[in-house]
Amino acid sequence: MSAGAEPYLRITGQRRLVGELRVNGAKNAALPCLAAALLSDQPSRLRRVPSIEDVRRFLEILSVLGVESDIEGDQVAIRPSGVCGGSPPDDLAAALRASFLVMGPLLARSGEASCGTPGGDVIGARPLDVHLAGFRALGAEVESVDGRTIARAPDGLRGATFVLDYPSVLGTENLLLAATLARGRTRLVNAAMEPEIVCLAEMLNRMGAQISGAGHHTITIDGVDRLSGADHELIPDRIETGSLLIAAAATRGQVCLQGLRSEHLEALLGKLGEIGAEVRRAPAQLDITVDENARLVATNLQSLPFPGFATDLQAPMTALLTQVEGTSVVHERVFENRMQHLDELRKFGANIIARGEAPRVIGPTPLTGAAVAGTDIRATAALIVAALTAEGESRIYGIGHLSRGYADLAAQLRYLGADIEQVGSVDTLTN
Ligand code: EPU
Repeated sequence: MSAGAEPYLRITGQRRLVGELRVNGAKNAALPCLAAALLSDQPSRLRRVPSIEDVRRFLEILSVLGVESDIEGDQVAIRPSGVCGGSPPDDLAAALRASFLVMGPLLARSGEASCGTPGGDVIGARPLDVHLAGFRALGAEVESVDGRTIARAPDGLRGATFVLDYPSVLGTENLLLAATLARGRTRLVNAAMEPEIVCLAEMLNRMGAQISGAGHHTITIDGVDRLSGADHELIPDRIETGSLLIAAAATRGQVCLQGLRSEHLEALLGKLGEIGAEVRRAPAQLDITVDENARLVATNLQSLPFPGFATDLQAPMTALLTQVEGTSVVHERVFENRMQHLDELRKFGANIIARGEAPRVIGPTPLTGAAVAGTDIRATAALIVAALTAEGESRIYGIGHLSRGYADLAAQLRYLGADIEQVGSVDTLTN
């Protein structure tokens, strides 16, 4: 399957994960908060920034647009120059979905923005109609030329009530960013309610924006003339946290995760409880225990926008469900092509019957080590979960995806007792 030089994770499974660790800041909060820096000519500081490829790429984009930055441990000091404008280089735009988040701030600040087709995980069509309709509602003219989006609002944006056809996460963030400097009041109705939206709104309010309702269906933004810088700490990464909880359950481990927000993980915690994992919760800490002889039972799940079960945890959870007793139905309802891990899970011996969007996972199935390849960030995490439970050695290819979204998952798992090592180095520019 993969060329000899391609890096991979070598995992010898069936080691119980045991121990404590503190989770990183959230990838999907870091990117919109970095985009917010484009709205001001004053310095900002972001804290608890995860060390991931997507952050480094976004900082490169900011640099091209006139915003310099320094990474200092898990902090990023952001130094905008007076001039802010231009367009992300096409290869960087194509490297991550969140590159399109420069549109809202640039449009608001300079009355003009353009961006090539944004890339990211290939998990569905991922149209941009919500973003574009929102920009139009705020008074911009928007056109698409050869895959490049160009938006103009020479007289500035003006507030409006806009109903999102779908509560798109990046769509909500882009419109929130744009509306902060629009004239008058904007109401975003059917907005995404993800914790990352709240984190962004808090940063923007620290910068002087007037936003209320973030985290609810309707967000109200009263436009202001200018924004200052801010010192802002990102929320903990609920998807990293969830992935570690799932890995702990799959290995029948005993793990304590700290520095998190358990209220961001209700849907997952509910499902872990349903299958029989014992989870003790405090606001900033979760302890999960699954005894070696405990009987875990099947459950059904549907991925949905927050506060539903996170689509980003669907693949790792599917891997865990191969280890529980009975038939679990997994319904992916956010992205139409986010089941690419199923074929790879079958290579470990998983018994999964495809039924349209809702495959049946039949368990428990003893898995055996396999050579498999991840196709996106979370599919790769799912294969790691499977390899951790499998007998013998596995090789997980496609790990460039992992470094885009997880700061140090392999190191975290090793710290908790997994037998896992990376062989070869990831070419960070081409994954
Ligand atoms: N959609 C539209 N029109 C739009 C935008 C989206 O129809 O204009 C559809 C999409 O096709 C999809 C659904 O809406 O079917 C959800 O897409 P959404 O826009 O909410 O996703 P996103 O904003 O592109 C973010 C995360 C994803 C995460 C989703 C859903 C970032 C950088 N990305 O993507 O994270 O899966 O929200 O929660 O925040 C990941 O971290 O691995 C990842 C893929």
